[in-house]
Amino acid sequence: MSFTFEPVGYIETCFKEKFGTPRQPSLVPSSWGILRLRPELNLSEALDGLEGFSHVWLVFVFHQNTNKGVKAKVHPPRMGGESIGLFATRTPHRPNPIGLSAVKLEKVEKGVLYLSGVDLVDGTPILDIKPYLPTSDRIEEATAGWTQTRPERTLQVEFSDEFRSDVARLLGARSSQAEAAIREILELDPRPVFYRGTAENPNPYMDVYGFRFDDFNVVYKMTGDVARILSLQPWAEYQASLKP
Ligand SMILES: C[S@@+](CC[C@H](N)C(=O)[O-])C[C@H]1O[C@@H](n2cnc3c(N)ncnc32)[C@H](O)[C@@H]1O
Repeated sequence: MSFTFEPVGYIETCFKEKFGTPRQPSLVPSSWGILRLRPELNLSEALDGLEGFSHVWLVFVFHQNTNKGVKAKVHPPRMGGESIGLFATRTPHRPNPIGLSAVKLEKVEKGVLYLSGVDLVDGTPILDIKPYLPTSDRIEEATAGWTQTRPERTLQVEFSDEFRSDVARLLGARSSQAEAAIREILELDPRPVFYRGTAENPNPYMDVYGFRFDDFNVVYKMTGDVARILSLQPWAEYQASLKP
């Protein structure tokens, strides 16, 4: 048997690339997303009644995967190089590249959901939306397997004065939410395991990193386990600066 599904909509998010996108939805609560149903499906009334729910499940396609084939064992970042069965993880690299995220529902408008706490890259196709039902989805006695003994690595985050003035100037009313989201992203050390080094040699490859957040380039410097955010620049300006 095989099945063909079409997206019910697409989500716009503050994460324009995989680097810097959180590994789970709850990790960056200040992130935002706007899910627009495809108008040609005439489904806007399908959102009626959803406004009373605080959270929704999104079922989506990992459309930016580039892997050819799937490996039965994978290397989750927090396992620091060890491997584990793919079905014991939330890796995007699955036989059917389908993702599942519980996200916060901020507001419902005709054919549009305003969300926060998302872990999806901008443009992700959404296959389904379901209300989060605390009575059945929240399982008090749940245990968390191998993840219980492997907490996410955390970094200390500092802001330079230059970054603080950039964020206030460029983001205005949205600056405190953006600053919180950037802090939450960096606290979780978005770098792949390969770049993280060891306790003795924590930053062996680079000390200055950049990532795209919304329409901005964020530059930060790693010193040991401290990420100091240096600057924020409009993405278009950053791209223009790269041209010879
Ligand atoms: C570990 S997955 C978890 C996603 C979902 N919460 C789940 O459990 O199915 C989250 C990561 O998937 C990647 N990702 C997010 N959206 C994606 C997309 N549309 N295509 C490919 N990778 C994506 C990002 O690198 C993000 O850090």
